[in-house]
Amino acid sequence: MEAANPSSSQCSYEDYKETADWLLNRTKQRPKVAIICGSGLGGLADLLEEKTVFKYEDIPRFPTSTVQGHAGQLVFGKLNGCECVCMQGRFHFYEGYNIQTVTYPVRVFYLLGVSTLIVTNAAGGLNDTYSVGDIMLIKDHINMPGFAGQNPLCGHNDERFGVRFPCMSDAYDRDLRALTRKTAKELGYDSFLQEGVYCMLAGPTYETIAECKLLQRLGADAVGMSTVPEVVVARHCGTRAQEDVAPDRRLRVLGLSLITNKVVTDYESNEKANHTEVLKTTERRTQELQNLVSRLIAKL
Ligand SMILES: *[C@@H]1O[C@H](CO)[C@@H](O)[C@H](O)[C@H]1NC(C)=O
Ligand SMILES: *[C@@H]1O[C@H](CO)[C@@H](O)[C@H](O)[C@H]1NC(C)=O
Ligand SMILES: *[C@@H]1O[C@H](CO)[C@@H](O)[C@H](O)[C@H]1NC(C)=O
Repeated sequence: MEAANPSSSQCSYEDYKETADWLLNRTKQRPKVAIICGSGLGGLADLLEEKTVFKYEDIPRFPTSTVQGHAGQLVFGKLNGCECVCMQGRFHFYEGYNIQTVTYPVRVFYLLGVSTLIVTNAAGGLNDTYSVGDIMLIKDHINMPGFAGQNPLCGHNDERFGVRFPCMSDAYDRDLRALTRKTAKELGYDSFLQEGVYCMLAGPTYETIAECKLLQRLGADAVGMSTVPEVVVARHCGTRAQEDVAPDRRLRVLGLSLITNKVVTDYESNEKANHTEVLKTTERRTQELQNLVSRLIAKL
């Protein structure tokens, strides 16, 4: 047995590098954009042209996906003329992966040369003004698992990725958000585009009524079980200490939540959170979300 070295259970730079090199050896595509497709939103990957597909299980050191509605493959290709790589199926903490495994692909994307990460998810609406089917541009997040010690950056810090204490106040790129709002307007989607704060809980249970009320008071507009760990790791990538001469090559992040249900905050209500329903709503609004991302990508 290894001694209690905090780094022993973590992946090393060389592990991520091996995965990235393996992929680079097998595709000529050099994507600048990576897209993580949330529950039921994997259809975006199907729109890619000149596809190269890798099943997660075939990629060295890559985790494999288990949840219903997740295909579990990495798809390289062109979306609206722009080279990208899509994760069709993401890894959730509630599936039992450790938090570093959940974020494994993000560092691989960074080493592939990706400069923009787009994350999508299905989320419950906490804000009273939101409707089912709204798309929420993520402005900021609340990292609840992080409060409880589940931050993917805990443990040994490898400076080749980034600094020990990365800034998170600018996690969701302001310019990308402005561009998304503009694009949504062009498409006539402004009536269902929101902008707000995403709160991550570990899941897999949906929230109790008391928990929903708490999250509303904390300033969260939507709640879900993903995204935040990937964003934290993405925003760590490429950070450099000020005195370091290495060029700053940060990953820009855009986050989009599809509001698939409204949380229950009334003890008299007979409504219940239901995963089938979440997948149904997702299906309904998927087309618009895909159009939005696809149109946006052409402008990057
Ligand atoms: C990638 O290709 C290079 C050159 O052919 C080879 O040396 C290297 O071992 C390959 N790496 C992986 C991870 O497949
Ligand atoms: C709900 O969203 C609206 C529109 O974005 C925002 O103005 C408002 O502050 C939010 N409400 C709460 C309670 O956060
Ligand atoms: C979940 O929602 C679906 C679709 O709205 C409905 O058919 C099903 O009965 C619900 N299941 C439960 C356990 O409430």
